[in-house]
Amino acid sequence: MILVTGGAGFIGSNFVLDWLDGTGEPLVNLDKLTYAGNPRTLERLAGDPRYTLVRGDIGDRTLVARLLAEHRPRAVVNFAAESHVDRSISGPDDFILTNVVGTFHLLEEVRRHHDQLAGDERDAFRFVHISTDEVYGSLGIDDPAFTERTQYAPNSPYSASKASSDHLVRAYHHTYGLPTLTSNCSNNYGPRQFPEKLVPLMIHNALAGKNLPVYGDGRNVRDWVFVGDHCDAIRAILAQGIPGETYNVGGNAERANIDVVHRICDLLAELAPGRDYRSLVTFVKDRPGHDRRYAIDGSKIAAELSWRPRESFESGLRKTVEWYLANQDWVASVTSGAYKNWISRNYSARSAA
Ligand SMILES: NC(=O)c1ccc[n+]([C@@H]2O[C@H](COP(=O)([O-])OP(=O)(O)OC[C@H]3O[C@@H](n4cnc5c(N)ncnc54)[C@H](O)[C@@H]3O)[C@@H](O)[C@H]2O)c1
Repeated sequence: MILVTGGAGFIGSNFVLDWLDGTGEPLVNLDKLTYAGNPRTLERLAGDPRYTLVRGDIGDRTLVARLLAEHRPRAVVNFAAESHVDRSISGPDDFILTNVVGTFHLLEEVRRHHDQLAGDERDAFRFVHISTDEVYGSLGIDDPAFTERTQYAPNSPYSASKASSDHLVRAYHHTYGLPTLTSNCSNNYGPRQFPEKLVPLMIHNALAGKNLPVYGDGRNVRDWVFVGDHCDAIRAILAQGIPGETYNVGGNAERANIDVVHRICDLLAELAPGRDYRSLVTFVKDRPGHDRRYAIDGSKIAAELSWRPRESFESGLRKTVEWYLANQDWVASVTSGAYKNWISRNYSARSAA
């Protein structure tokens, strides 16, 4: 079995569902259930004996040690993080606490656990750390894409906290021989993303007839990868990656933010006609320190692990818009706070469920 952290968030929940559908291997999900972690997303797993949700913090060493001793996972996949750049600018504390200090505590307990393993169990053990391309900083429009050798130059409290965690992971491999693997991935989009990030926020606002706020001139460029492709890359890294290595993961889809927003508007015009969605676009004051461009050179993971994204930006975005149109009740529940009441009813004390 494997232990996943942060598996009730956007990428983690997609990973958990794909994992159980595809492999059937049991999985424990340790998640603090912050505003970004929604157990409703995984409610179709209720009663599934292969799945266990534990509400808790990666920084809770006693809890992590107990889970490792009880379940003896063959791997830990660490998604748990504070992940929203804007929130890191207005309130960086939680980013340092979870992304830096929390990852440190998790690594400490995983190291202790790994030290006690022997033979095949020890050889097979892996710690996979999910990180971001934002650790590399900002590119000029004609600069070559980020490779695994690009120097770290994080610019926001979020990316600085992720860079710190990446360095700790690297050090635990180098110093203690922990078999770690790190993925540095570009912007994910797809089903089950909390509607504070660009793609779901635009869909949500557009359907409500609200303004579509676009930072600055809208020309900031990101590479976009469909979340199912990222989950597939993580499985490849876990199965075949070389301990101590890092892998860049991208979607071969660089797009300016304004072009992403326009494409969402056009898809909505086709799939949910009745409004001039493009007319809702409103340019707003730029985010402080806003990185201009990120781009991923994915040649290492393609050559070494034969992984390439399957979805084009067109096909992935269409699936995403269709999912949000078909799951408006999920959006309403995660934005209404109703799920917070559900959490306090169901998880009043920390417990394995
Ligand atoms: N979303 C992206 O575009 C993207 C791109 C590259 C990398 N990443 C990385 O992937 C990971 C997952 O991102 P996401 O978009 O799914 O994030 P998310 O914010 O949707 O989910 C984060 C999850 O972690 C949980 N969590 C937060 N603090 C915790 C703690 N202290 N202990 C246990 N659980 C905790 C939350 O409850 C939530 O379920 C993050 O590490 C992020 O840095 C994200």
